[in-house]
Amino acid sequence: MTDRFPASMDFAGYNAPSRIECDIYDLVLEGTLPDEIEGSWYRSVPDPQYPPFLGDDTFLSGDGMVSRFRFEHGHVDLRQRYVQTARFTAERAARRSLFGRYRNPYTDDPSVRGVDRGANNTTPIWHGGRLLALKEDSRAVELDPHTLETRGPWDYQGQLRSQTMTAHTRADFDTGELYFFGYEAGGLATRDVAYCVADRNGRLLREEWFEAPYVSMMHDFAVTKEHAIFPVFPTTASLERIKAGGPHWIYEPSKDIYVGIMPRNGSVRDLRWFRRPAGSAYHFLNAYSEGQRVHLDFGLANMNPFPFIREASNIHMSPADIKSQLVRWTFDLAGPGENIEEQVLGPPGDLPRIANRDHMRDYQIGYYQRFDPAVGPPLVAGPVGAGFNTITRLQVKTGQMKNLAMDARSTVQEHVHVASRIAGHEGYLMFVVDRHDTALSEVFVVEAEHLDRGPLARIQLPFRLRCGVHGNWVPAEELPAE
Ligand SMILES: [Fe+2]
Repeated sequence: MTDRFPASMDFAGYNAPSRIECDIYDLVLEGTLPDEIEGSWYRSVPDPQYPPFLGDDTFLSGDGMVSRFRFEHGHVDLRQRYVQTARFTAERAARRSLFGRYRNPYTDDPSVRGVDRGANNTTPIWHGGRLLALKEDSRAVELDPHTLETRGPWDYQGQLRSQTMTAHTRADFDTGELYFFGYEAGGLATRDVAYCVADRNGRLLREEWFEAPYVSMMHDFAVTKEHAIFPVFPTTASLERIKAGGPHWIYEPSKDIYVGIMPRNGSVRDLRWFRRPAGSAYHFLNAYSEGQRVHLDFGLANMNPFPFIREASNIHMSPADIKSQLVRWTFDLAGPGENIEEQVLGPPGDLPRIANRDHMRDYQIGYYQRFDPAVGPPLVAGPVGAGFNTITRLQVKTGQMKNLAMDARSTVQEHVHVASRIAGHEGYLMFVVDRHDTALSEVFVVEAEHLDRGPLARIQLPFRLRCGVHGNWVPAEELPAE
């Protein structure tokens, strides 16, 4: 037995820990699954094996669970396994939590001093023939792509100097290269940022460090065919505060946003910084360069969306007062000054995805998720509170939208895009639907171009899948034979 989990937003209702490792063959399927969908959809889920060490905690601390939906000849199988991190192993041996506040080792049980705190719970990626489970505060952990068994920490064969690796890497699907970065690269609350590139075989080609203007929760970055873009938003850390047992992150509205841009094959010495007043963003839809003009598309908010970060910052604001919209920022590298041009692309939302072929270049279509209050009242699902209830296909040039809304008692988890082999076909989106009335989950498969027509296929889960963070689709031919 273990103690009860807290009744807080992060651990109750649809957010209750699930802790189910499983193999389910031939999930029940309604509708027609297109034959060409053959591959594996990997998703990362924070799912704490024990109640928090200090009584309460954020959803983001949960132990990494990776699930794999395997699509083969019209059949769908599900496997789920914990990532066996050093943190997970130490807690399992003790049969209780040992790690304290989110990203604060000074609040841990003395028995785990010096043990790697990484939970590797944010994104599974497939690159260089390796399945890596990532979280931005630590290095990668490699998993077996078929069994999901943990193979151990991955540091690019001892080459990676950064102590951290982002969960938002950027693949160039033309060259096979993986672009990534690590912030707090030199240790807790350091301004060091490592910029890294690995080749298609997973060999580290380069790693160069620079100092950010201040320590920032740099959750994502963007890369174009010519430039690398490092946005720095004012969710900040202080070593002093961490050492005093306080929160790692607070939001500081008095600080400016900085965006560093450099030629992607150039040196970090070429970084040029643009700036504007405070705001918050976590995920970038896409970016591309048009000569000396660089465009970055994303959801920009006037406040940090995480309740635990606002509380730590003594900012008391109703979620309804957090304003955001999907914007395009344009940086003119030919012009002088630090100014950023802004254009509104669409209504607020997050978890943006595009087709792989559109990455890093001028493009037409983005898919993202929104909370539409007309669908129903907010339902708690996932780390920020209210889950999304609508998936949107946006034509970024025209603002034209198609929407697929859930019913009033359902929310959606992040979608993945699956490319089609049929010429002119826009591919498919897949996502988990959380059914709050039955506490069961479904997977919807929709045609990306016609998502408003609803699912082609619905895959029934016999239990509730806890809200994942991010996932990726790997076509069957890219995986080694089983
Ligand atoms: Fe993310």
